[in-house]
Amino acid sequence: MSDIKNKIESLRSELHQYNYNYYVLSQPAISDFDFDRKLKELQLLEEQHPEFFDPNSPTQRVGSDISEGFRQVRHKYPMLSLGNTYSKAEVADFYERARKFINEDIELVCELKYDGASISLIYEDGKLVQAITRGDGEKGDDVTANVRTIKSIPLKLRGNDYPAQFEIRGEILMPWSVFDELNREREQQGEQLFANPRNAASGTLKLLNSAEVAKRKLDAFFYFLLGEKLPAETHFDNLQCIKRWGFKIFDGMRLCKSLDEVFEFIDYWDNERKKLPVATDGIVFKVNSLRQQRNLGFTAKSPRWAIAYKFQAERVRTRLNSVSYQVGRTGAVTPVANLDPVQLSGSTVRRASLHNADIIQALDLHIGDMVFVEKGGEIIPKIVGVDTKARFMLGDKVQFIKNCPECGTPLVRMEGEAAHYCPNEDGCPPQIKGKIEHFVSRKAMNISAGVETVDLLYNKGYIKTVADLYDLRWEDLLLLERWAEKSAKNLVQSIEDSKQVPFDRVLYALGIRYVGETVAKKLTSILHNIKAVEDADYEQLVEIDEIGDRIARSVVDFFGKEKNKELVNRLKKHGLQFEIDERLLQKTSGKLRGISIVISGTFEKYSRDELKNMIEQHGGKSISSISKKTDFVLAGENMGPAKLEKAEKLGIKIISENEFLKMIEED
Ligand code: IVH
Repeated sequence: MSDIKNKIESLRSELHQYNYNYYVLSQPAISDFDFDRKLKELQLLEEQHPEFFDPNSPTQRVGSDISEGFRQVRHKYPMLSLGNTYSKAEVADFYERARKFINEDIELVCELKYDGASISLIYEDGKLVQAITRGDGEKGDDVTANVRTIKSIPLKLRGNDYPAQFEIRGEILMPWSVFDELNREREQQGEQLFANPRNAASGTLKLLNSAEVAKRKLDAFFYFLLGEKLPAETHFDNLQCIKRWGFKIFDGMRLCKSLDEVFEFIDYWDNERKKLPVATDGIVFKVNSLRQQRNLGFTAKSPRWAIAYKFQAERVRTRLNSVSYQVGRTGAVTPVANLDPVQLSGSTVRRASLHNADIIQALDLHIGDMVFVEKGGEIIPKIVGVDTKARFMLGDKVQFIKNCPECGTPLVRMEGEAAHYCPNEDGCPPQIKGKIEHFVSRKAMNISAGVETVDLLYNKGYIKTVADLYDLRWEDLLLLERWAEKSAKNLVQSIEDSKQVPFDRVLYALGIRYVGETVAKKLTSILHNIKAVEDADYEQLVEIDEIGDRIARSVVDFFGKEKNKELVNRLKKHGLQFEIDERLLQKTSGKLRGISIVISGTFEKYSRDELKNMIEQHGGKSISSISKKTDFVLAGENMGPAKLEKAEKLGIKIISENEFLKMIEED
């Protein structure tokens, strides 16, 4: 037995080392293939020997789909913010104030200010035990399960000179490349985009499914060590220690003895930071000596021994040539400024967002104006002001259009909303095409037709609604220019295949406003078939968990329209899935409330995932390892001998698949 334990331990430490080489040092020491092989070996051993379970094992980095919401935890040391400065003069003020206050020379540590989600980690005996978000500074969310999936965060520390208990603070970041990719995907799916990597990182940390978090490839840098017994008496040396323990720190950090050196640091990083793979929004200066820090102390909100210097958002001046208006799938009309091309943060900007009519009004824009364009953390650059001094001839004042640029219908503006809408849902080409593009997209019906194909089919009169797709014959497509038999047949086949797409995705594909993938899943899991969704009234819908007023109104509104009902009927006749799979249609109940079940082995009637879902749907908990708290072990074929032994030792009842099904059977 102890041989196995040794084997498990040695695999774990080997894999921790490889992770560190790869994610912290960026120096892989093993091929991906060999890494995966070792990880699988460890996984297998851990499965066979649940008694050696360790939440900090490298196998735990893949996350799990058990959602537990988040527990609120009080911070042992509150998470404060920093005072901001925007100029070298203000930094000089800070430096002089601190020096006078303690009446000694001071050294400042200069670091970059990472722009992500702040996090506080607690380690005990070298192991990560808890990760808490900033929250309101006093209390935050316990996001430990999600943080464990971040590969550059050590789950077990290196070396042995760390305090038995300490807290460490840093920033969780989503690298630009991951952020861009994620937004590209979201755009394709018609989902709302993240405005910047900071929002994306904190949104990701709050996902309920840590397996999903694991896929998002977050990174983390650390900059603050707290605890009763710290290894060094200066901030700089403490950060060198945390680096040795396996944390990522900013290697460009510098210890400055004079203001000149501090200014040099600012000048250098103001530009150099743009080359970094992650977002930064400033520099942080900290008094190096912890003794001096203690002397300086804190104000109510921030330490007197540190200050942030914020970088200027990059801003350029260029000419506004015209304003055009885009109509989206929901009919929302977005004004876009067309500009003289100009370089901004490494890319050429030709267009900028103008958001809505109020913003145009507030800017008092005229065609031909010289305007200031900024790229804050946002995706699309925006116009932040007009250089009125450069106006020598006043062009036409920009007036928000009154009619849809695509179909001429008068626009409407809903009470309390900033956007204008074109109400001509059924006759406005970009709205119709947008709905079809959404319908065929990968996460909806997954029909292999891109934007160009949809455009072509619509423009040539082949399709007017999504239901028309199902009447297409490959022979007809051959009449289109450049369409060969193979591509025509492929398209028709993929339309045919879409008839197997499950109900929740069909509901999502219908493009009901505010019904994204998650909401569609929720609705179908509760209401089971389209008739129930159609018949549900407002009160019934808002009763459902996570369905709020806005969504409920939108659903009722959608099915209140005769033409939508007709569309659904046509799709039904074509054989699309409008009810959830019988097998998944187990009734929910509270029969297993408070009961913990471990599933082990393979089963005859259902897969392990299905059984797990059933346990949860009946109010029980499906857990991965056996302990005193386990109520039943649901055992199939080939249950691991170690699990069996452990269950017997603890006197836990072992039940078969049939016995389990009896337990949840309807009365
Ligand atoms: S030190 C008590 N150092 O900026 C001071 N903060 O406005 C603790 N941040 O909440 C913070 N990079 O999320 C510090 N190198 C750095 C930082 C940094 C980013 C964030 C952090 C903090 C906020 C303060």
